[in-house]
Amino acid sequence: MREIETIATRIETSAQEIFAMVRAAQRNGETVGLVPTMGALHKGHLSLVDRSVAECDKTVVSIFVNPTQFAPNEDLKSYPRALDRDVSLLQERGCWLVFAPAVEEVYRAGHDTTIDVGSVAKPWEGAARPTHFPGVATVVLKLFLMVPADRAYFGQKDYQQSLVVRQLVADLNVPIEIHVCPIVREPDGLAMSSRNAYLSAEERSQACLLWQSLKLAESLYIEGETDVATIKQAMVRLLGSIGDIRVDYIAFLGEGTVRPVETIAGPTIVAIAAHVGRTRLIDNHRIG
Ligand code: PAJ
Repeated sequence: MREIETIATRIETSAQEIFAMVRAAQRNGETVGLVPTMGALHKGHLSLVDRSVAECDKTVVSIFVNPTQFAPNEDLKSYPRALDRDVSLLQERGCWLVFAPAVEEVYRAGHDTTIDVGSVAKPWEGAARPTHFPGVATVVLKLFLMVPADRAYFGQKDYQQSLVVRQLVADLNVPIEIHVCPIVREPDGLAMSSRNAYLSAEERSQACLLWQSLKLAESLYIEGETDVATIKQAMVRLLGSIGDIRVDYIAFLGEGTVRPVETIAGPTIVAIAAHVGRTRLIDNHRIG
């Protein structure tokens, strides 16, 4: 039996304790990987855990539904929570520690500092949800300080978030390596997300149109179309063919940036945000 199968995954709620445990492992010559999550784990999250377990000696998964990244009108209260199930999934994957702090452990009384990442955090998701990235950047930096891991794993699913985290780490000299892992999808192409649980059966069947529209962009490009306006029009037409989808934005961005392009001339990220019923979904796909 492999060693990881015999070790019980431990749940830690104290920032001080987890810091000491990570440092002790590192003093022992071990590398530590961190996978920050908000829980309700699915195969997308678990793919990051698998990468970390494969590449690092020890893996910490944080599970924290971060209140500061939700606007008052958003789904903080209803966000799915499933700690016991999450921990048993992580146990199977060989995770060493689950860091599941209480809100008061992360945001002590009087907490009054917010990290404001610059231009990469402002358009698209930043424009639709102005308090979102300040909340994400603040908690991610705090997690990096509480869990001083060697590497951290994020998903390409949240493309702009991964750029915000890279900017933060570079600008503030945070000593951690950032790794971004591919999007994991359902069999019909829908990107896995904890928020997919909000979809009714009918909405769920419509939600795969987001992926179909991204594939449509790719096939038009492969057929020779490079004009972004033309491709966007076709995507909007496809998404509009069903009643309940309301597009927030479709953006064609130079890879590694949030700058829109008008013509596809190199690696391009097609990013989409749309409401399916009352659920806001995001997805993206690299073409070019
Ligand atoms: P959460 O939505 O739980 O996602 C945790 C990590 O899993 C993120 O890096 C996200 O990009 C990745 N992920 C989600 N769905 C994925 C999929 N289908 N395929 C691959 N990776 C996927 O993102 C957050 O939490 C929070 O903002 C956080 C960074 C934890 C800060 O609170």
